[in-house]
Amino acid sequence: MRLKGKAAIITGGSSGIGESAVREMAASGAHVLIADVNDERGKRLAAELHSDETKVIYQHVDVTNEDDIQNMVEKAVTEFGKLDILFSNAGIGGMSPSVDLSIEEWRKVISINLDGVFLCAKHAIAAMRKSGGGSVVNCASILGHVGQGATAAYTAAKGGVVNLTRTLAVEYAKENIRVNAVCPGYIDTPLLQQLDDDMRNHLISLHPVGRLGKPEEVAKAVAFLASDDASFITGANLLVDGGYTAQ
Ligand SMILES: NC(=O)c1ccc[n+]([C@@H]2O[C@H](COP(=O)([O-])OP(=O)(O)OC[C@H]3O[C@@H](n4cnc5c(N)ncnc54)[C@H](O)[C@@H]3O)[C@@H](O)[C@H]2O)c1
Repeated sequence: MRLKGKAAIITGGSSGIGESAVREMAASGAHVLIADVNDERGKRLAAELHSDETKVIYQHVDVTNEDDIQNMVEKAVTEFGKLDILFSNAGIGGMSPSVDLSIEEWRKVISINLDGVFLCAKHAIAAMRKSGGGSVVNCASILGHVGQGATAAYTAAKGGVVNLTRTLAVEYAKENIRVNAVCPGYIDTPLLQQLDDDMRNHLISLHPVGRLGKPEEVAKAVAFLASDDASFITGANLLVDGGYTAQ
C-alpha cells in the first residue's frame, strides 16, 4: 500500500476529483480528513470509507476562511497524530466575457481558487515542518498554462497556483516538504454538468485522446505525487490532460 499510515487532508473532497482522491488515498492506506462546504456529501463519504485501519473523517471547511483552515490542520494533527499530505483541490468554475465580469465575481473565484490554496499551504506546511516533512499537491489546470475565452478569473487563479507551487517548492525543499501541482484537462465531474451538448462535444474535440478525463485518472496522479515514490519530484506541474496542451 503506497500511502500506508500517511495522514492526509483533501479540500473539496466531497465531490468530483476530490472525492476520487479521497477514495484513492484511503484505498492506498492513508487516513483522510475531507474538508469541504458540502457537508451532506462529505459526511456520507466519510461514513462509507471510515475503518479501523484507515480513518476517514469530515470537517466543514471554507477555504476562504483562515480560521476554518487553522482548525482543519489542528483537527488532522489531533486525529492522526501528524500531517503528511495536503491535496488542495477545492475550486469553482466561472464563465463570463471579461468586459461583463464583475469585481465581486472575479474576487470570489480568486478567493476560493487561489487565496484558498495559499492559506491551506501556509497552515499545512507549518504542521509538516514539525513532523519532519510532507507533500503538498495543488490542483491547478490546463488553464494555468494556456488561455481560454471568458475565463479571466479562473485562468488568472490557476496560473497563480502554477507559480505559487514552484515558489513553495523552492522555499521548503530543504525541510523535506515537496510541493507539486496536477493540471487536469477537462474532467467529467459535476463542475462540467452545467455545459450543453454542443459545448461538451467541442471540449471533447480539443483532447487528442478523443474523450474527457475521468476523476479517477487525476486521483491516481495525485496519489503518486503525494507518495514517497515521487521523492525527487518537487515544483512540478503535472499535466493530466489527454494531450490537450501538447498540440
Ligand atoms: N472538472 C474539470 O474539468 C477540471 C479541470 C481542471 C481543473 N479542475 C479543478 O479541479 C478541482 C476540483 O474540481 P471538480 O471538477 O472536482 O469540481 P466539483 O464541483 O465536483 O468539486 C469541487 C468541490 O469543492 C468544494 N468547494 C467549493 N468551494 C469551496 C470552498 N470555499 N471551501 C471548501 N470547499 C469548496 C465543493 O463543495 C465541491 O465538493 C477544482 O480546483 C477545479 O478547478 C477541474
